[in-house]
Amino acid sequence: MVILISGRGSNMQAMVEAGLPVAAVISNCADAAGLEYAAGRGIATAVVSHRDYATREGFDAALAQAIDGFHPDLVALAGFMRILTAEFVSRYQGRLLNIHPSLLPAFPGLDTHARALAAGVKLHGCTVHFVTVELDHGPIVMQAAVPVLPRDDEATLAARVLAGEHRIYPQAARWFLEGKLVIDSGVVRVNGDHPQQLYLP
Ligand code: GRF
Repeated sequence: MVILISGRGSNMQAMVEAGLPVAAVISNCADAAGLEYAAGRGIATAVVSHRDYATREGFDAALAQAIDGFHPDLVALAGFMRILTAEFVSRYQGRLLNIHPSLLPAFPGLDTHARALAAGVKLHGCTVHFVTVELDHGPIVMQAAVPVLPRDDEATLAARVLAGEHRIYPQAARWFLEGKLVIDSGVVRVNGDHPQQLYLP
């Protein structure tokens, strides 16, 4: 698998530490902290900077070329902060996963923790989903739910959600690589009846 990151890369790190076969970590930012971690673990790294391309199409084509050099069965977006073109998404359709820090379909887009607090929801969480052209809307593989506590601020809530991300993304990626995921009319099931939800205190 190939993992795309833009920054810290803690989800990427969780997948590496779970023993998943990561062929390469690619970033659109040369200073993404996660690149150093990956290189330190002997994993191939590459940078394709969006700043080097005048158009989204140009950037996505260069990114696809970098990815395809590793012939991955799975491409995992892990804090990859670029909106991808429909062409890119369709090229990797069915083998492109993302982690989003909310219980989709609630709170697609940015600032999910602040929006969850403002909405007063009592449960929040994260979602691993297949990527489709509509942002943060693809078939849901797994979700982790966490409580929203009275004294939470964005940072405490984000930390609780992140612990869930680090549990469900490696699990979802492993199911994919084992060929266990089946998408039926937009609904994802796992062969073998594994639970697709996690509740964290
Ligand atoms: C995570 O919260 C992820 O859900 C979101 O961006 C953040 C990336 O964190 N898409 P990291 O780079 O994996 O540490």
